[in-house]
Amino acid sequence: MMKERFRQWLQALVFVLIMLRVECYNVDITYVESAVAKGAVCLDGSPPAYHFSAGFGAGINNWLVQIEGGAWCNNDTTCLARKSTRLGSSTKMVKTLSFSGILSNKPQFNPDFYDWNKVKVRYCDGSSFTGDIEAVNPVTKLYYRGARVFLAIMDDLLAKGMKNAENAILSGCSAGGLTSILHCDRFRALLPATTKVKCFSDAGYFINAKDVSGAEHIKDFYSQVVATHGSAKILPSSCTSSLSDPGLCFFPQYVAHGIRTPLFVMNAAYDSWQIKNILAPGVADPHGLWHNCKLDILKCSPAQLQIMHGYHTEFLSALTGLGPSSARGYYINSCYAHCQTETQETWLRGDSPRLNGKTIAQAMGDWFHDRSPFQYTDCPYPCDKTCHNRIFESHDYPSAGVY
Ligand SMILES: *[C@@H]1O[C@H](CO)[C@@H](O)[C@H](O)[C@H]1NC(C)=O
Repeated sequence: MMKERFRQWLQALVFVLIMLRVECYNVDITYVESAVAKGAVCLDGSPPAYHFSAGFGAGINNWLVQIEGGAWCNNDTTCLARKSTRLGSSTKMVKTLSFSGILSNKPQFNPDFYDWNKVKVRYCDGSSFTGDIEAVNPVTKLYYRGARVFLAIMDDLLAKGMKNAENAILSGCSAGGLTSILHCDRFRALLPATTKVKCFSDAGYFINAKDVSGAEHIKDFYSQVVATHGSAKILPSSCTSSLSDPGLCFFPQYVAHGIRTPLFVMNAAYDSWQIKNILAPGVADPHGLWHNCKLDILKCSPAQLQIMHGYHTEFLSALTGLGPSSARGYYINSCYAHCQTETQETWLRGDSPRLNGKTIAQAMGDWFHDRSPFQYTDCPYPCDKTCHNRIFESHDYPSAGVY
């Protein structure tokens, strides 16, 4: 009896391991040592890095550049803390990453991009690659050079063959999704006019909303990020020339209408990072009334859900405020999620989220290749039964801000 149970358990384990093996593959890190001479370095002065998986077959001249996420640091104190982590130093990064979802190399998991050159750019500057300050503080020894890192990595990729790209995508998730918006036209300009270039932002559409205490927490935070990293001169001038506070130009709702390259916005309107850090950040909830709700949307009280529906409404108006554009794509579902393109279960699987009948992989693939436009938003939570709503562990809650 026990033996039989053990055999079944072992079979299940082997099955899971085989599934994990085929759903993702490991890709080694490349350090861009040549960037150091250009002053294009991580917060601690170490060289920036990326993971590269070469294209093959028909995808040999197609490039997907995916930017890693990981929030931001807004002042010397928080940047100093970040400096000694993988998000501030390439000396702290793991040497291999596993690629899946939009980075998968299997046609059944990633039909439109599996054979492309795929790059995952590591995030180590804390400013969504917008920092550019020449001076290095002698005490903190912090380098605010994110924009230079972006350019140094692109130079390296162009030399590796991206200069001959037929198709190219700048994409990313979370702070990396924001990077793909902020740098979209710059990326376009680096490539030949004949290259078809589009940008994908996954979970990068952070909105300028008040928190539950009524304070403008995220707006103040972004202003500090922009001031600390000297980002104003890097942010799209279409935005900075019309708004008096350059910090506002960190919000896609003020910046995206000025982006000329086609942009696809993929986001959950109940984005779990935004609920935790924009709507109900710790400082706005001193008694922790939102603690359980933020971990698991099923634990939210009716009153809290009401407030979250308000956030959903604000999110949709921050998007429609951009004005109509037939070139843009939208996939805004009502899941409690954050980053849905890099995990196989949300990108493309039998039970993946669907909106207007399409998986995220189908919608983005069709949109990139001009097979069909996609501009859909979802009905309010919990109407969408295809969601994979995130459930967080209590212990990872304080660091959740880093994802
Ligand atoms: C830096 O930012 C953090 C997070 O917003 C804040 O708690 C802290 O007070 C700030 N420190 C300084 C010196 O401004």
